[in-house]
Amino acid sequence: MRSFASFTIAVIVGLCSIFLFCDHILDLVACSSSISQLLDTILDRNTLKETQAEAHTTTTDPVPEHLLQSYKLDLPPDTFLYATNMSVARAIRKVFLAVEQAEGAGARVRRSVGTPQLRNFSPFLMLDHFSVKPGAGFPDHPHRGQETITYLLEGAVDHEDFAGNKGTIGPGDLQFMTAGRGIMHAEMPAQNTDGSANVGLQLWVDLPTRLKMCEPRYRDLRADEIPSVDVDDNKVHVKVISGQSHGIDSVKDLAYTPVWILDVTVQPGGKVAQPLPAGWNAFAYVLEGQALFGEASNQTAVEQFNNVVFEPAGDVVYAEVDAGAEKSARFVLIAGTPLDQKVVQYGPFVLNSQEEVYQAFMDYQTQTNGFERAKGWESEIGKSMVH
Ligand SMILES: *[C@@H]1O[C@H](CO)[C@@H](O)[C@H](O)[C@H]1NC(C)=O
Ligand SMILES: *[C@@H]1O[C@H](CO)[C@@H](O)[C@H](O)[C@H]1NC(C)=O
Repeated sequence: MRSFASFTIAVIVGLCSIFLFCDHILDLVACSSSISQLLDTILDRNTLKETQAEAHTTTTDPVPEHLLQSYKLDLPPDTFLYATNMSVARAIRKVFLAVEQAEGAGARVRRSVGTPQLRNFSPFLMLDHFSVKPGAGFPDHPHRGQETITYLLEGAVDHEDFAGNKGTIGPGDLQFMTAGRGIMHAEMPAQNTDGSANVGLQLWVDLPTRLKMCEPRYRDLRADEIPSVDVDDNKVHVKVISGQSHGIDSVKDLAYTPVWILDVTVQPGGKVAQPLPAGWNAFAYVLEGQALFGEASNQTAVEQFNNVVFEPAGDVVYAEVDAGAEKSARFVLIAGTPLDQKVVQYGPFVLNSQEEVYQAFMDYQTQTNGFERAKGWESEIGKSMVH
């Protein structure tokens, strides 16, 4: 047992140094081969056997309803949050630019959540605004312990996982993926013949501790399934991807961790007051134009590609576009339940302790505890990029 513990520490130290450079899906193309090489060289078969014998058993049952229940929004059915003249504005904590960086060949990413500017913002782990040209992609790689939500804005992305799920999302579509105890998948942006990029947002959301080892699942949400609402004389259009706005409810049960995602377009002269659940962490990321956030008497202008982070206190986010503006503003407003738990993340594995991360590596390598279906699996869509 003691040799197992010191072995664990040695492996974790080794893996930490690799994963410092490997905390994003895009990096996985480069990192996945080094992970397995490292594991191959440091794991000896006896240790593997010992670990397998000790590996905790996990349930394969669907997630019991009572585990989900306590995380649902604490509102009676069919009640809605409305802004009133008593609503208190949420103050702005900070505004910052998501700086564009190159990530491998043909990919550019603006990351906001999950940078030094915005960490420890539970349940959110990462938000990337990506632009991927033909030739780049994310072939077969694992995940455990989080949910990823991909919102495609332009182009298309193919998906395939080891559970046999396969599909393509197009502009305005989303994919909600719960990694749970383990998934292996490939995400391959389309090879657009005109060379144009595939653009979208990818949000990583933490899973509550007691759902970390749930069965993986995924669901595509088509653009035409998303309800929307027009307010302020049709100067404001809100796509209710998840959550509610002005009495309109989204499609239900998209993610396990409760998250609201609203895609809001405000024309010049339009304004909106959007209530959010009390105490939830919330931010808006400006996709286009310039929006004024805050009460009329105290507004902050936020430009394209900036992330505006709100304080948890208050009821409502106010946004407006100057009547003299040349174009509309478009932003995603995102809020989620803060989870009271430690986040230990190495690359694609997001757990609550280093031991659990180590266990995830072992399970991935030995194809156990959720990674059984990785044995011999290779995606069809990722083959074009195997090097
Ligand atoms: C707030 O709204 C209520 C109901 O619409 C109205 O009766 C009241 O006068 C308003 N108060 C203020 C300060 O505007
Ligand atoms: C004005 O807005 C800023 C940012 O939201 C906030 O920190 C400040 O408290 C507000 N001031 C007043 C007087 O409401």
